[in-house]
Amino acid sequence: MYNYAGQVAVVTGAAMGIGRAIARKLVTEGCHVALWDKNAEALSGAFAELSAGGSVSKAVIDVTDLDAVKSGVAETIRHHGPIDILVNNAGVGQVASIIDDKPEDFESTMRLNVFGTFNCCHAVVPSMVLRKSGRIINLSSWFGKVGRPSSLAYCASKFAILGMTQSMALDLAAHGIRVNAVCPGAIANTQMRDFADTQLSARGLPTAAERAHTIPLGRLGEPEDVANVVAFLLSSQADYMTGQGINVTGGVWMN
Ligand SMILES: NC(=O)c1ccc[n+]([C@@H]2O[C@H](COP(=O)([O-])OP(=O)(O)OC[C@H]3O[C@@H](n4cnc5c(N)ncnc54)[C@H](O)[C@@H]3O)[C@@H](O)[C@H]2O)c1
Repeated sequence: MYNYAGQVAVVTGAAMGIGRAIARKLVTEGCHVALWDKNAEALSGAFAELSAGGSVSKAVIDVTDLDAVKSGVAETIRHHGPIDILVNNAGVGQVASIIDDKPEDFESTMRLNVFGTFNCCHAVVPSMVLRKSGRIINLSSWFGKVGRPSSLAYCASKFAILGMTQSMALDLAAHGIRVNAVCPGAIANTQMRDFADTQLSARGLPTAAERAHTIPLGRLGEPEDVANVVAFLLSSQADYMTGQGINVTGGVWMN
């Protein structure tokens, strides 16, 4: 559908969930895809699946570790060539409010979601600037657009990612680099969803599946719903879009 033949993409958190679906979509579109994840076992599973269908590499990288990210960038360029696309997908969520959030949990969420995104952009953007070309997608959330209960650190981190997206879009437009974000709603078949639902149930709160009837389109999202929008934003069909945070929520959030 899109012509990505020969382009090089890095997808973080690519071992499972939304990241794996994005990587699968980009492989299908002809990209060389570097799969980065800190979970070595799950990464091997993703590599086994996706290498059967196209050109992929894998690297065990914790995106909170800037040195590891820099090494990963160098290795990706050595293996595939210059990086055209960066998808900052690795992220974590936790159910906690200001009443019960622990400082160390707040910090670890910010460290992964915000500093992880910073680290990857910090390491990749200079080579994009030199080539005057590149596209970046950041995974925010509709929780990055409106405060939600029991989501203190998650909301803070996802609001920050939208701010970073807009700021980078302004700074990088003149360098031929587009930066956009996607803001998913409740996406099923992900580790994060299972983790959040377990915590919600423990608090006597409804799971995402139990709230599905409140979603205008009548179902939870699937990782592929997000991957399809990411593929569009990365394509030349979206050449006039930058600094956007696109909702993929089944209509739950419209602003
Ligand atoms: N699932 C949802 O309902 C939902 C909704 C909105 C936004 N999102 C966002 O989408 C993104 C992907 O979420 P998901 O639901 O697929 O989660 P997931 O837990 O299924 O997958 C996350 C992946 O990131 C990897 N990862 C975690 N920490 C890492 C680190 N430090 N370095 C490298 N990799 C790391 C994990 O090993 C895993 O493979 C996240 O940024 C999340 O906030 C998810």
